[in-house]
Amino acid sequence: MPARSFLKWAGGKAQLLPALTERLPPRFRRYHEPFVGGGALFFHLWNTGRLQAGATLSDFNPELVACYTAVRDHVEELIEILQRHKPHFADRDYFYAIRGWDRQPGFEHIPLVERAARTIFLNRTCYNGLYRLNNRGQFNAPFGYYKNPLIVDPENLREVSRALQHVELLVDDFAGVLARAEPDDFIYFDPPYVPVSATASFTAYTGQGFSELEQRRLAEVFMRLAERGCHVMLSNSYTELARTLYAGQPVHESVRASRKINCDGKKRGEVDELIVCSYLPASRPSALVGAKA
Ligand SMILES: C[S@@+](CC[C@H](N)C(=O)[O-])C[C@H]1O[C@@H](n2cnc3c(N)ncnc32)[C@H](O)[C@@H]1O
Repeated sequence: MPARSFLKWAGGKAQLLPALTERLPPRFRRYHEPFVGGGALFFHLWNTGRLQAGATLSDFNPELVACYTAVRDHVEELIEILQRHKPHFADRDYFYAIRGWDRQPGFEHIPLVERAARTIFLNRTCYNGLYRLNNRGQFNAPFGYYKNPLIVDPENLREVSRALQHVELLVDDFAGVLARAEPDDFIYFDPPYVPVSATASFTAYTGQGFSELEQRRLAEVFMRLAERGCHVMLSNSYTELARTLYAGQPVHESVRASRKINCDGKKRGEVDELIVCSYLPASRPSALVGAKA
């Protein structure tokens, strides 16, 4: 059984996965995913046996990384706790009580596996599966009124646990990859996207947002890794800023993707996304700068 993302994550890459996998580097050493989110590409690489040299997954969001760590190190206990939450999926008061943990002093001292179960439970029962924090870093997505949410999927969690056994998990800013990546490593960046319009942004993953300055800092990190001889791939929205920041890369293409969650979680539809690679993929013998996929 293949391992699948165990969280619904805004910007999840399931839709874009075929376009990404078509553009993988022919070969690579270690894999790094510094904005791991739901980790769709990591799971694909694991399921297809491409992670021989191991992987480092990181993200700025400590609760997200706690979920991965709990699945890796305490999967049976995690399943047990989720089984305890499960009967309460339709109980609004229960949802808000669990959600309120991060408004209480001492939240960070709650055992990691309990916090992870909280995040997974909220992810499955909150409105649209949206992970959203207010500017104090508190989870603030409202109750979702689901009829039959999948709170716990023991088989998949055990499979994910297997996939994560030799994976390094870190709470870190994306630039931390500069201290770890070596020539021939493969780095996939899936940052919070440049907003398509002023109202279309969804960058509340960490409570801090992701500004134009951050996008420029990321582009610098991309270029430094490419110069080092790493294979670097990035997805973003097909916006002028993103196009300009990565102009001239060997692959710089627009791909159509259907997006499920955007700013208010309601609007869905087809959008153009940008895929950039610092190398020529195995399936592309020559550069295709600016081509439509
Ligand atoms: C678009 S999501 C990633 C989606 C994911 N790749 C997937 O397939 O579901 C962006 C992620 O970036 C993280 N993030 C935001 N700012 C960051 C930063 N400065 N450094 C590292 N991660 C950050 C967020 O916590 C969020 O999980």
